[in-house]
Amino acid sequence: MKILVSGGCGYIGSHTCVELLNNGYEVVVVDNLCNSKENVIDKIKEITGKNVTFYKGDVCDKEILRKIFNENKIDAVIHFAGLKAVGESVEKPLMYYRNNIDSTLSLCEVMNEYNCKKIIFSSSATVYGDPAKLPITEDMPVGNTTNPYGSSKLYIEGILKDLYISDNSWGITLLRYFNPVGAHQSGLIGEDPNGIPNNLMPYIVKVATGELPCLSIFGDDYDTKDGTGVRDYIHVVDLARGHVKALEKLLSVKGINIYNLGTGNGYSVLEMVNTFSKVNGVDVNYKIVERRAGDIACCYADCSKAFNELGWSAELSLDDMVKSAYNFVLKNKK
Ligand code: NAD
Ligand code: WQD
Repeated sequence: MKILVSGGCGYIGSHTCVELLNNGYEVVVVDNLCNSKENVIDKIKEITGKNVTFYKGDVCDKEILRKIFNENKIDAVIHFAGLKAVGESVEKPLMYYRNNIDSTLSLCEVMNEYNCKKIIFSSSATVYGDPAKLPITEDMPVGNTTNPYGSSKLYIEGILKDLYISDNSWGITLLRYFNPVGAHQSGLIGEDPNGIPNNLMPYIVKVATGELPCLSIFGDDYDTKDGTGVRDYIHVVDLARGHVKALEKLLSVKGINIYNLGTGNGYSVLEMVNTFSKVNGVDVNYKIVERRAGDIACCYADCSKAFNELGWSAELSLDDMVKSAYNFVLKNKK
């Protein structure tokens, strides 16, 4: 079975390539490297001892996609390619809508041309907006996204649902990730954002290594266990394994399916900082500042659907997450 992985040089895509290869799938990657580096392909090969076919190209470009489908018999696609920085999406909404939506349209059109009708799409818990109840189940309403990035995910979900209504020979899986963190245990692949990170875990890591002086904790007056925001952090390797399980099912059924991929546990910002410090034996300097616009108090998943239908659940602990995140950065310090 040959799987096309769009955005396979990125953070979640690279870990998923490893798990696919370890499970006997052949992998073809297309990535324009706008937020990643080509040497990730070598790291994936080093970890797995298996080959990966790489195309440098933009998923919005149907010609490169046709070339890939002409040269490879693709059985299914996992579509990670997209821009993901929330703040940047507020400043450059058109760029975000163009890239994220156009890439999905081009990909589905070319898949149609080659009669390859199995796709897994990287969606996000952000489509739930501020949830009315917790834990979040897949049947809860989506909408009220607070930024163009989140809205692009919501719209793409809608596009894929319409595609299925128009042609029910498609198999479509929407995976709504909660907060992916951590890195591969080898320390060869992980999250390596350019500049100042937006997300909590890469920020903590940069404070721990001394690259940044102090973490700003965005508010300690939420209605949560200690006043700081609560999220469902999931180890990226568990998340990657979730894709393999989703793919197994996708290859055997038609239809549209939606799954939350999280752990079901909510941890606060302070719990994350304290666990990171304890497990890695390093201080993380922090101060409490104002709430960040658009943040919600609390978000965690009910993952029983993925467990019941895919036989998947997250196995790695919070200690594994913080340890592997730090290990990756120490190993790859410039
Ligand atoms: P990432 O930026 O590390 O990976 C995305 C990859 O896609 C990068 O390698 C980038 O170069 C590539 N890319 C972007 N646009 C492209 C295009 N038009 N053509 C070809 N390649 C392109 O991000 P990630 O964290 O690995 O996220 C993967 C997917 O999961 C994204 O769609 C993201 O929105 C989604 N997601 C991420 C998170 C998260 O917190 N990391 C949470 C929920 C959903
Ligand atoms: C986590 C918690 C912050 C940074 C975002 C996107 C979402 C998804 C994942 C893709 C919150 C707090 C953070 C900092 C802090 N991405 N925090 N200081 O906001 O849950 O989700 O990334 O789909 O769409 O919105 O993740 O890591 O930014 O924040 O106090 O410097 O950490 O307030 O409570 P978030 P995050």
